[in-house]
Amino acid sequence: PRALMAQLTVASPTNIAVIKYWGKRDTALNLPINSSVSLTINQADLRTVTTVTVSKDFEKDRLWLNGEEEDVSASKRVQKVFAMVRGRSRQWEGMKVHVVSVNNFPTAAGLASSAAGYAALAFALGKLYAVEESYPGELSTIARVGSGSACRSLAGGFVAWDMGSREDGADSCARQVAPAEHWPELQVLILVVSDKKKAVSSTAGMQTAVETSPLLAHRAAHVVPARMLAMEAAYLKKDFAAFAQLAMQDSNQFHATCLDTFPPIFYLNDVSRAVIQFVHAFNSACGETRMGYTFDAGPNAVLLVQQQHAVQALAAVLTHFPAEPGSEASYVNRPA
Ligand code: PMV
Repeated sequence: PRALMAQLTVASPTNIAVIKYWGKRDTALNLPINSSVSLTINQADLRTVTTVTVSKDFEKDRLWLNGEEEDVSASKRVQKVFAMVRGRSRQWEGMKVHVVSVNNFPTAAGLASSAAGYAALAFALGKLYAVEESYPGELSTIARVGSGSACRSLAGGFVAWDMGSREDGADSCARQVAPAEHWPELQVLILVVSDKKKAVSSTAGMQTAVETSPLLAHRAAHVVPARMLAMEAAYLKKDFAAFAQLAMQDSNQFHATCLDTFPPIFYLNDVSRAVIQFVHAFNSACGETRMGYTFDAGPNAVLLVQQQHAVQALAAVLTHFPAEPGSEASYVNRPA
C-alpha cells in the first residue's frame, strides 16, 4: 500500500562569499549578473536544521521559521521551490508538506541565513520527493530560486556559482572547486557587530544597484571574471596572501557599489570600518598578509585566517574590540 506520511530532517550550512554575488539579470529565477565563489562554513557552527513532513492529513503547505509560522501563500520563493521539486517527482502526489526550520545564528543579519535556509529546504524536499539530478548541480538550481546564494550551500569546501548563460537558469548552478580537506588550515572568525535585521534586504538592494549603479555594471563585466579565475587559483594553490587580498578587494568593491547605488545603501557601520583598518594595521605590523576580511549585506565582519595564526589574530581582535560583558566571543571554524 502507498505510504501515508513521511518525515525527514536535514542540516544545512551557510556560506560566506569571497567573490560576491550582487545583482540579478532575472529576478524571478535569481539569475546573477556575475559568478561568485564562497567558503561553506562548518555546520557545527552556523546551520539551519529543517524537518519536512508530508502527510495525507495535511490540508495545506505550512512553514515555521524559528518557531514562528510564515505565510507560505505570501512567499513566492517558497512556492517556487515546492513547485520545482514537485515538478521533478511523482511521489506524494496531492499531499501537503509541513516544514519546520531553525537557525542557530541571527536571521537576516547579513550572515547568509537565507543561504542555509533555502539550501536546507531544497535539499530536504529533494530527498523527501526522491528527486534524481539529471545533471550535477540541478538541485542547487532549486535552492538558487529560493535565494541566490543558497545554491552554493549544497556543496562543502570552496564552491563556485557559475552565472550561466541560459534563460531558463539550468546552467546557473553551484560547482565544488575543492573540498574543505584541500585547505583545512583556512578558517574564519565571525565578528557579530550587530544581530539586528538588516535595513535593506539583499533583493531590494541589488535591484536598485542594477538600476542605478554604473560601477556595478563595470564590476560584473570587467572585474569579476578575472577575479574568479585568480580566486580559484589562489584557493587551489593555498596562497593565503593572494586569497585574502582578493577577498578584501572584492568585499570593498561590493560595498563601493552600494555607495554608488542611488539613493546609496550603507551596510557597513563605524565598527565595520574600524575592523577593516585594524586588519590592514595588523597585516602591516606582521609584515605579511595574515588576515583578510569580507562583509556581506550587513555590518558583521568575517575574518579570514590560517590556523597557525588564528590564536594571534583572535587575541589581537579581542584587544582592539573587547567583547561586551556577558556576550560570548565566538570562534568559528571551517572547514565543512
Ligand atoms: O542570496 P541573497 O539574495 O541573500 O544575496 C546574498 C548577497 C551577498 O551575501 C551579499 C553576497 C553573496 O554572494 O553571498
